[in-house]
Amino acid sequence: MQYDKELAEKYSSSDRLDHPQNRLPYAAWMKAVGNVEGLEVLDLACGSGYSSRLLAQQGAKVTGIDVSPEMIALARQRSQNICYHVMDCAKAFTMGRTYDMVTAAFLFNYAATYESLVQMMKNAALHLEKGKRLVALTVPPDPIVTRQPNASHSSHWLDEPYKDGSRFRLTIYDLEGTEVCGFDNVHWSQDTYERALREVGFNDIEWIRLHATDELKQFNNWQALEQHNCSIVIVAS
Ligand SMILES: C[S@@+](CC[C@H](N)C(=O)[O-])C[C@H]1O[C@@H](n2cnc3c(N)ncnc32)[C@H](O)[C@@H]1O
Repeated sequence: MQYDKELAEKYSSSDRLDHPQNRLPYAAWMKAVGNVEGLEVLDLACGSGYSSRLLAQQGAKVTGIDVSPEMIALARQRSQNICYHVMDCAKAFTMGRTYDMVTAAFLFNYAATYESLVQMMKNAALHLEKGKRLVALTVPPDPIVTRQPNASHSSHWLDEPYKDGSRFRLTIYDLEGTEVCGFDNVHWSQDTYERALREVGFNDIEWIRLHATDELKQFNNWQALEQHNCSIVIVAS
């Protein structure tokens, strides 16, 4: 289990969350999510609840799922009006109902095998009726990030670069450039993501790249930070 108590606390610290480059993926993801007022949303890999709280703040009724009991414990401390469950999204599960939307902010980049990736997507599909959307954030399938000045993160390969299933280490920094935490991710190509999505019935797939917010443009190297981000939004229905 990667997200033990120590990583859960470091990952959830405001030092990380307050970085404008870190807010970029969530701004793009929430734009893709759109109006969720009154909608029931299943948030896969909700972690310590940052993504779930963004949805709830926009009026969604959120159910969050995460494999890490430590992350769920932090999520429960921070919000009473979201329902949280400890569950592994790489294994088959059912909530016994469907939702208006399924979200997954940084889940698919933890699929250790192609079969796990498909199972994660299948769990999303099973909780959606035809025409409803999965709105995901994941790491981009193209160039890995070298460290830039002011950057919130950098990464390096642990296995053969750009190979499906290869692991890379992401290191997170605060605004002063001090390391906050690090964790391992798994690389999947765009083709592989799309093959897995189609295998479980998602046909309409859109990839949305991130664009700098006014907040990020306060850095003189904002173009580099915009380009060297660690996230991409996928909308599938
Ligand atoms: C980078 S955090 C993202 C948390 C939250 N969505 C956010 O954006 O702040 C990734 C989360 O994915 C969870 N995770 C990884 N593999 C998972 C799995 N198989 N099933 C459920 N959660 C998983 C981890 O425990 C961790 O909390």
